[in-house]
Amino acid sequence: MIEVHDLSKRYGAKTAVDHLTFSVQPGRITGFLGPNGAGKSTTMRLILGLDRPQSGTATIDGVRYADLREPLRKVGALLEARAVHTGRSAYNHLLCLAQSQGLPRKRVEESLALVGLTEVAKKRAGGFSLGMGQRLGIAAALLGDPQVLILDEPVNGLDPEGVLWIRNLMKALAAAGKTIFVSSHLMSEMAQTADHLVVIGRGALIADESVDAFIARSSDHSVLVRTPQPSQLAKELERTPAEGEADGVTVATAEDGSLIVRGMTAQEIGEKAAAARVVLHELTPQRASLEEAFMEMTRGSVEYHADLESQTGGAGAAGGGIADAVPPGFAPPGAVPPGAAPPAALPSQDRAEPAVPTSGSEAAE
Ligand SMILES: Nc1ncnc2c1ncn2[C@@H]1O[C@H](COP(=O)(O)OP(=O)(O)OP(=O)(O)O)[C@@H](O)[C@H]1O
Ligand SMILES: [Mg+2]
Repeated sequence: MIEVHDLSKRYGAKTAVDHLTFSVQPGRITGFLGPNGAGKSTTMRLILGLDRPQSGTATIDGVRYADLREPLRKVGALLEARAVHTGRSAYNHLLCLAQSQGLPRKRVEESLALVGLTEVAKKRAGGFSLGMGQRLGIAAALLGDPQVLILDEPVNGLDPEGVLWIRNLMKALAAAGKTIFVSSHLMSEMAQTADHLVVIGRGALIADESVDAFIARSSDHSVLVRTPQPSQLAKELERTPAEGEADGVTVATAEDGSLIVRGMTAQEIGEKAAAARVVLHELTPQRASLEEAFMEMTRGSVEYHADLESQTGGAGAAGGGIADAVPPGFAPPGAVPPGAAPPAALPSQDRAEPAVPTSGSEAAE
């Protein structure tokens, strides 16, 4: 189990992690979500002892990472940065790690097989594609067959087969009782993978609950109604409520003529329709997607907004602007306000060096 208690981290005037308290339980996949710059990677680095907090504690089964005797056997981690000796082969990269922790050579072969890199094991890791690099990082995380896995954006750069593979891998590990803590930007992926969510915004906790509870808490509970008598039903639903009936019912008409009713349950609508002898063809409670719930719940804590209007001369400008070509909700890469560097480009004076050099010119060993 991972336990984070009152954890805070500042970089100069910037509060990256703000009095965070949560725990990550074994036997399930906990998704770690938050807008860009929310503090996910920083929290993971703090758990792994790669950064020092200003206050609070982070422990793994009650022990700080720095105090673990054989850390690779306890915790496997994949962080954003690719910490691999580029001149070394995948096999030797893992062998080095294994030897530093007293792990048998056999685990190197097993981990390579688990991530599907056996065929390229003797190739230089520096020449790996993004997805192969991710797989190697995951192999390193799995090397000590750890009880706890901490994965920062593991599906980054993976092809659909790779995404499916890591999803199934995480599920199998969770089912075997391991603790899985995984950050991701892909809401649809998280919706299919995570059992539990920890959501943060501007370094502070927004939610710590099951995926279902998170979606239920935020969704607007509308009901989709199809009827051949839409105006009659709308009038019936919107008429002044009798005593004890729901107030504030709104009925909107969708493009295809169906009704979207808010402020009433499907059961109430069905009963009203029956009383008014209105025929119903469909009556479906609408459930927000994880993505919609996430957007709604983190709206107040998004720091890096895409400002499409100012790039296109305003929403009312004549057609042909970027905004016309971009689907709603789409934020272009690098949508960062002027003057604010994206997190990856920030000075890392406070960041500890990774255990393995990130570059090198040695030929493959
Ligand atoms: N080494 C550092 N030095 C200075 N500021 C930093 C450093 N690392 C992170 N920050 C700042 O702390 C905040 C949190 O960054 P972090 O990388 O933890 O966010 P994140 O949630 O992982 O974002 P993303 O989704 O983009 O990966 C950001 O505002 C970032 O600019
Ligand atoms: Mg990050």
